[in-house]
Amino acid sequence: MSMSFLFTFTIIISFGLCILYASAELQRLSHSSKHDGALSFLVLGDWGRRGAYNQSQVSFQMGKVGEKLDIDFVVSTGDNFYDNGLTSDHDNAFQESFTQIYTAKSLQKQWYSVLGNHDYRGDAEAQLSPVLREIDSRWLCLRSFIVDSELVEIFFVDTTPFVEEYFTEPQEHKYDWRGIGPQKPYITNLLKDLELALRESTAKWKIVVGHHAIRSVGHHGDTQELINQLLPILQANNIDFYMNGHDHCLEHISDTERGTCLQPHSVPD
Ligand SMILES: *[C@@H]1O[C@H](CO)[C@@H](O)[C@H](O)[C@H]1NC(C)=O
Ligand SMILES: [Zn+2]
Repeated sequence: MSMSFLFTFTIIISFGLCILYASAELQRLSHSSKHDGALSFLVLGDWGRRGAYNQSQVSFQMGKVGEKLDIDFVVSTGDNFYDNGLTSDHDNAFQESFTQIYTAKSLQKQWYSVLGNHDYRGDAEAQLSPVLREIDSRWLCLRSFIVDSELVEIFFVDTTPFVEEYFTEPQEHKYDWRGIGPQKPYITNLLKDLELALRESTAKWKIVVGHHAIRSVGHHGDTQELINQLLPILQANNIDFYMNGHDHCLEHISDTERGTCLQPHSVPD
């Protein structure tokens, strides 16, 4: 039996200035940083297990770390509900794997989530539904969007539709591609919007979040589609790092040629 692996990743970034700028086509949400310009958040992925597979224990530790760091929000890199996403926006798994699990005071913040491949095996649109936000106002999941926090911009990218295998060899799984339309134009448009937003960004820190790894030495390994299509855009626009889930292990991979890309900064204190 494969073990679910949950991890948290902490980041603190400090800033001085505040600059405003024009928006691109991706939906843009703003989240102000603390008065001193600092911002901290937790990142986790691959988690919704109704508390099992040590989800509750990880949640407890997240609560402690979240308090210590006085986090501003939480980022989820997808595979939010195992095994097959949510069945509808009334699926109890939402409360049982989210609301009733992340109960610590420090975790009562906005959560920004993307979808993972497991989420696409259920009713993918359920996780995007405002109904969930009425049940738990912390929840906010969109396919691709931007969180703008003054000098940091976080670009969330819907990576599941990039992966050819889910279309050509779905095996026993059924993927919910409603709202995506044909794969090619969806990806082309997404990359165009992302590229424009990255190019126009004047943020000091540019962070990209997706579910699938670009490069990985883990079980799933590299995602060739993202190496071919996403990575060149990230490199051309000097993003500081890319953060992902999916491969159930903690890795820090640096791009030795460019020195900037795929380079998480972990500052625990
Ligand atoms: C929970 O974590 C403990 C300690 O790391 C480990 O021994 C155990 O196998 C985990 N349980 C599950 C169901 O993953
Ligand atoms: Zn996954």
